[in-house]
Amino acid sequence: MITSLAIQVGVVAAIGALLAALIELADRFIANYGECRITINDEEERSLNVQGGGHLLGALAENKLFIPSACGGRGSCGLCKVKVLEGGGPLLPTEAPYLSATERKNNVRLSCQVKVRNNLRIEIPQELFAIKRYAGRAGKIIDQTHDMKQLDIELTEPETLDFKAGQYVQLTAPEYAKSDQPIYRAYSICSDPTDESTISLLIRRVPDGICTTWVFDYLKVGDQVELNGPHGEFCLQPTAREILFIAGGSGLAPIRSMLFQMRNEKIDRKATFYFGAQTSDDLCYLEQMAQFERDLPQFKFVPALSMPRDEDRWEGAQGLITDVLDAGEHEFAQAEAYLCGSPGMIDACIKVLLTHGMPQERIFYDKFA
Ligand SMILES: Cc1cc2nc3c(=O)[nH]c(=O)nc-3n(C[C@H](O)[C@H](O)[C@H](O)COP(=O)(O)OP(=O)(O)OC[C@H]3O[C@@H](n4cnc5c(N)ncnc54)[C@H](O)[C@@H]3O)c2cc1C
Ligand code: FES
Repeated sequence: MITSLAIQVGVVAAIGALLAALIELADRFIANYGECRITINDEEERSLNVQGGGHLLGALAENKLFIPSACGGRGSCGLCKVKVLEGGGPLLPTEAPYLSATERKNNVRLSCQVKVRNNLRIEIPQELFAIKRYAGRAGKIIDQTHDMKQLDIELTEPETLDFKAGQYVQLTAPEYAKSDQPIYRAYSICSDPTDESTISLLIRRVPDGICTTWVFDYLKVGDQVELNGPHGEFCLQPTAREILFIAGGSGLAPIRSMLFQMRNEKIDRKATFYFGAQTSDDLCYLEQMAQFERDLPQFKFVPALSMPRDEDRWEGAQGLITDVLDAGEHEFAQAEAYLCGSPGMIDACIKVLLTHGMPQERIFYDKFA
């Protein structure tokens, strides 16, 4: 009985997959949707004529309208949301997991999944019109750990980028030996927000990742680079509350930028930065953090190693970052938290914060998903 049911489900799934593949093939080689009109925010001057057939995300980017995207259109980050009021067709199964009931009701869609097959009427937030494309050249490329590099980008056109500490840019990896088309990925800015001409990123290598392989193995000092931004709202709130910063790996990037902001603006709030790593090989910017401790009287940096080796001779905090955070002495219920790094680490730390009474609305995060 169970076997025959499983066979039936398998057959239906296979037919579904075959149909989807046929539609994709037909789209690519047969269908000609001609020119389609994308009406944006019901404003004639913002509206576009594009060649039909591609995805909405790409059609907008070609017209210098950059919707946030971290997965490059694979439908796995859920960042590329826009409202599609007319012409988007039915919601796709690939979009459903990323949309809440309210978002679905409000016609929110993933722009990397919606195809431009006819005229569309869409709505996007005003702040996205401020996002620009920037050209620059790779300045210093510095090894910060065995798998993290700081990439300094000297901007050339325009020559400055006005950003808030905590925001990110989308870096374009061009077509190269391991990728047959340009793609872009999100990277938090790790530099001082008062330096608008050189944008620094802290990039961690992802094995076989398209963008990080390009940065680590192909990009050379002086090469042309392109990015768009600034994106995001992961920024310091203007309160006097105690701050808990929590990060792992390259999640340190936006927090470093926020610490520059605190120093520049003489923000004297009690702040603790919990930084999770496995061994001392994963630690970076130690001297810089020590300098922040000297410059910001109420700031404390707490690196924690989950797998210290004998040669680490580690005398600092040990254990998973969740355990170290859990043992921290804070007035959690009065504080606010800024978390950055992998989704798993962030979700685990949020649980600890909630257990200690921190209200959900005071927990801010950027997941590097
Ligand atoms: C807001 C935000 C800020 C970020 N900031 C930073 C930062 O400061 N520093 C940093 O290092 N990272 C950051 N990231 C992560 C970054 O955007 C990239 O996801 C990461 O660098 C990997 O990019 P990649 O092109 O090298 O890997 P990808 O090519 O995107 O691959 C990533 C993973 O997906 C797998 N994969 C590849 N192709 C597919 C496929 N077709 N289907 C399913 N899986 C696939 C790969 O095997 C790999 O494991 C940030 C992400 C977000 C959302
Ligand atoms: S770009 Fe990632 S889900 Fe659309």
